[in-house]
Amino acid sequence: MVGVSRPSGSGAAVADALRRETGNADVHHLGADLSRPDEARSMAQEFSRRFERLDVLVANAGALAYRRTETEDGLERTFALNHLGSFMPTVLLLPQLIASPAGRVVVVTSNAAHFGRLQLDDPQTTRRYDAFRAYAWSKLANVLFTLELARRLEGTRVTANAVHPGFVATKFGHDGGFMARMVQLSQRIAGRSPERGAETPVWLATSPEVAGVTGGYFVDRRRQEPPRLARDEEAQRHLWRLSERLTGVDAAA
Ligand SMILES: NC(=O)c1ccc[n+]([C@@H]2O[C@H](COP(=O)([O-])OP(=O)(O)OC[C@H]3O[C@@H](n4cnc5c(N)ncnc54)[C@H](OP(=O)(O)O)[C@@H]3O)[C@@H](O)[C@H]2O)c1
Repeated sequence: MVGVSRPSGSGAAVADALRRETGNADVHHLGADLSRPDEARSMAQEFSRRFERLDVLVANAGALAYRRTETEDGLERTFALNHLGSFMPTVLLLPQLIASPAGRVVVVTSNAAHFGRLQLDDPQTTRRYDAFRAYAWSKLANVLFTLELARRLEGTRVTANAVHPGFVATKFGHDGGFMARMVQLSQRIAGRSPERGAETPVWLATSPEVAGVTGGYFVDRRRQEPPRLARDEEAQRHLWRLSERLTGVDAAA
């Protein structure tokens, strides 16, 4: 197992703990800020050097930025992490996924995608930034990306599905002022545990019940109709091309 998160975060310590607790020495951590295309690329290169194949890629890293900020590359942070940070590693690691006997991609989106508006003309929300609008758009982009990926992977053994994990009491949305405190409070009152939140993503990643199932949007182990705007194939293709341009990735999948 290989976990990817920022070098400054707790990922390396979590990998250490997992090795200790499970006795499995084959648990690794690669540090990368996935909102930075250069770091995502270096991570994918290091992965490719060290590992021959990838059986499951769970694109999970995500955040909500209460104020509009840009990465050092000039990318709006929410879109850069939530969408491009899923797009880039997946596309760069497709050869390793295709080398697996039955590769799976699981993209962790949110039911906020249902409220997202298509922002193909302003993907980085330069006009009238609103945190929830930018987040919902980035999560809609997760589903648009997953459906396009599934179509591009037809004829291979690799599947791609999107999942809403439910409302989960994690550290999500804890960076900020008043709004962050409201999110924390509501998570404490109404959120499910992280273990419960991980159930459907892990099921999609591992269960024989969903072997060969692709192009789906799942909630609580049930396949649901993806958000209406995510089903627009022209928008899916448009987002793919835009993501290639923004990241400099040429996806020949
Ligand atoms: N919590 C919910 O209610 C909820 C609901 C629907 C969907 N989701 C989705 O679930 C996913 C996971 O969120 P969560 O609830 O587990 O939030 P979380 O507790 O804040 O975890 C976010 C994860 O992303 C990593 N991460 C954050 N910024 C990163 C960066 N720039 N580069 C690389 N990794 C980064 C974090 O590791 P480091 O900080 O160590 O880098 C952490 O592992 C997100 O995609 C979110 O949109 C959550």
